[in-house]
Amino acid sequence: MAQLWGGRFTKETDKLVYQFNASIAFDQRFYKQDIEGSMAHVCMLAKQGILTKEEMQAIVKELTDISREVEEGTLEITEEYEDIHSFVEANLIKRLGDVGKKLHTGRSRNDQVALDMKLYTRLEVLYTDVLLKDLLKVLLRIMEENLDTIMPGFTHLQKAQPITLSHHMGAYFEMFKRDRLRLKDIYARMNYCPLGSGALAGTTYPLDREYTAEILGFYGPTLNSMDSVADRDYLIEFLSALATIMMHLSRFCEEIILWNSNEYQFVEMDDSYSTGSSIMPQKKNPDIAELVRGKTGRVYGALMSLLTTMKGIPLAYNKDMQEDKELAFDAMDTVKHCLALFTGMLDTMKFCKEEMRKSANNGFTNATDAADYLVNHGVPFRDAHGIVGQLVLQCIEQKIALDEMPLSQLQAVCPAFEEDVFEAISMETCVNKRLTVGAPGREAMEQVIALEKEYLSKEWQDEEAKKWK
Ligand code: ARG
Repeated sequence: MAQLWGGRFTKETDKLVYQFNASIAFDQRFYKQDIEGSMAHVCMLAKQGILTKEEMQAIVKELTDISREVEEGTLEITEEYEDIHSFVEANLIKRLGDVGKKLHTGRSRNDQVALDMKLYTRLEVLYTDVLLKDLLKVLLRIMEENLDTIMPGFTHLQKAQPITLSHHMGAYFEMFKRDRLRLKDIYARMNYCPLGSGALAGTTYPLDREYTAEILGFYGPTLNSMDSVADRDYLIEFLSALATIMMHLSRFCEEIILWNSNEYQFVEMDDSYSTGSSIMPQKKNPDIAELVRGKTGRVYGALMSLLTTMKGIPLAYNKDMQEDKELAFDAMDTVKHCLALFTGMLDTMKFCKEEMRKSANNGFTNATDAADYLVNHGVPFRDAHGIVGQLVLQCIEQKIALDEMPLSQLQAVCPAFEEDVFEAISMETCVNKRLTVGAPGREAMEQVIALEKEYLSKEWQDEEAKKWK
């Protein structure tokens, strides 16, 4: 057992207590961030005259070596250390003796772990954003290619009005775009440095917190040392954003699973993204989409878990907060994997345009437009609604579509119908007459696509990076 304390104890820690308390099994994941934070800390200590320049240089050199050796696998992180902070410090002392013992001057593990977790999370926010952007690019391609691919739009999972595949994909584009905006907001709010807050009440050393914040790419230091060590809001916000991403992915997966079914046949998954059955030779299953939908639960779980952990914690640091890590890491990994797989699946998926078109033709998706036609010919909307309802009933009995009904039969129900009705209720007209902003009509969609392209050409990560001094 290697721990950083023990002076005031007369007995060894019970073995089970030690294991229960230790976090090395999971916090070793941020060894790089821990070392990066320590380097910034000692540079600042030297600048302030708290360490000599030589001491700082010696420590930075050894920390660099430790980081490299861990990365290369020549230095193993073992469970004999309580946590990653102990591991790094113990190894430094092993190599440098007394100079190594100066690393922790003016620092506590409380501000140290607050920093490490924030650095790690900040990077994850950026990675997740890049994956979302990749997904948006694929969506935009499908949107551009399918401005005229007519399909039914649904409400209550009943065919409602014709739309295009471009428009349908555009809905998801908006969702994932909002997800990116959420990440940008979170980044801007979280990017303040807790290092230098000490255990809870700052320190008596003349630390330069602005300096460490700057070295580590933060906008500045946090402004209350107790809040600094007790704050996990940024992580809760990130988990909430991740949960929302999963909710969006899951809805999309649900649609793809339906579309891929024998009943719909709107899409065909690429063989490389499908799986077979051990017993039924004909099967080609959408397991990836189902798994992404399924994994949504564990990401929601991570959010609920941390919200619950944090709700009863008095200021400032309490050990409960060690529980912020395992499920959060799992959620971060899960969302990254799901995004990457989903994007690949979507990119390789084949859209069966014929089937989509047939489906739109068969479901009376132009009934609203038939009613609108009558309104344009002087019939009040409520009456027009009733007339088209009657016609739909007749069509169902005759097993035909509205635009397959002869004009004489239409006129028998309402004399306002004329020859031009067929043009007015064709799928193309139904879609392309919908030209309000955000509607599926070709011109409206083209304008939206131009805006989305412009949006994708800008990079918020670059904008944020410019704010670093
Ligand atoms: N392993 C701890 C955590 O993850 C590090 C902070 C420990 N601080 C302390 N005072 N026990 O939160």
